[in-house]
Amino acid sequence: MVIKSLNLINFRNYSNLNLNFHPKMNIIIGQNALGKTNILESICVLALTKSYRNGVEPNLISFGKEKAKIKGKVKSDKVLKTMEIIIEQGQKKLKINQTEIKKITNYISNLNVIVFTPEDLEIIKGSPSIRRNLLNIELSQISSKYLNTYNEYNKLLKMRNEYLKLLLTSSIADTSYFDIITEKLIEKAIIIYQERKKYLDLINENIHLIYEKITKESGLVVKYEPNIEFNSFDKEELRKKLKYTFKKNYKKELNYGMTLFGPHRDEFSIYLNQNNLKFFGSQGQQKVAILSFKLAEIDIFKKYNNTNPVLLLDDIFSELDIAKRNKLLEYISKDIQSIITTTDLKNIRKKYLLDAYIYEIKNGIVERRN
Ligand SMILES: Nc1ncnc2c1ncn2[C@@H]1O[C@H](COP(=O)(O)OP(=O)(O)OP(=O)(O)O)[C@@H](O)[C@H]1O
Ligand SMILES: [Mg+2]
Repeated sequence: MVIKSLNLINFRNYSNLNLNFHPKMNIIIGQNALGKTNILESICVLALTKSYRNGVEPNLISFGKEKAKIKGKVKSDKVLKTMEIIIEQGQKKLKINQTEIKKITNYISNLNVIVFTPEDLEIIKGSPSIRRNLLNIELSQISSKYLNTYNEYNKLLKMRNEYLKLLLTSSIADTSYFDIITEKLIEKAIIIYQERKKYLDLINENIHLIYEKITKESGLVVKYEPNIEFNSFDKEELRKKLKYTFKKNYKKELNYGMTLFGPHRDEFSIYLNQNNLKFFGSQGQQKVAILSFKLAEIDIFKKYNNTNPVLLLDDIFSELDIAKRNKLLEYISKDIQSIITTTDLKNIRKKYLLDAYIYEIKNGIVERRN
């Protein structure tokens, strides 16, 4: 799919902006704080109804204004649709082809995006919850089974934790009810483990190839590291180990008053030839590893959703040397739409930019340069 045009009204620093996009590469150049990220953010909000940036929704509306509007024309399977989001008084109105859409799930699937932002370095550097969050976001976009199971798992987890506290303090609490909750929780955990494993296996099919294309280094691999040691991800093995773990650690969990094992404590790491990039990776290596992870998602999207997502790549060239900048661009200049921001095009080979639309932001105005 491609986004053909974008119109912003009172969105962050833009009072009225109109852009047309090339079906393949688009580059937005501008110095710091001129509004490059804001453009990508607006497309992200248009696609997913919320921003990936921290903070509250009113921030999206221009200072002193009451209402922001994002509108985009999206083409998928030769069908052109107009998507629109109006943000006003803490509420969002969603429209497709001028008709208001009440159910968010009917809206979201109309524009698929893969976003890379400088904050994504936290996927390697940050805490495990950031990595679990990434898995949840990506898996929810391709599997409603995952999303439903994950929500049910969280409800059961909350119940189980409350019951653990009750069992410790009350002598009349009944362990047979607790056992039923545990059994139900195990069944949901099995599905989450299997879906996450399948997803990371798919990432591993491509991530090392992409990383090698950009860096000429081989041996990048993602390792799934649940906090229970499983011999395989077969249903029976998962069920057996989960039951055993909960039985063995009953006293410990009782003392903590919470569930200590399961997918809510999951972890994965990215290794380059057995070295965890969290501890041994340079800034550039970490950045390319995460970019490779995101680019490996393209094939997964294609497989599940039957369409190419749109790539939104914020500030991708900084920290990369000349060779890697060009290799990255070569990889992206394939059969996919990308919108890229950068402060400059220094050392970028012209041949990758021949067809691209290049926009430059100066004095608050965004203009096509070619
Ligand atoms: N709600 C708002 N109303 C008006 N202006 C805003 C609003 N929110 C942010 N801005 C302005 O947007 C600008 C930042 O834009 P953005 O983050 O897109 O910059 P950038 O071009 O990506 O910069 P960098 O290269 O540093 O990443 C700032 O000048 C900020 O004051
Ligand atoms: Mg920025």
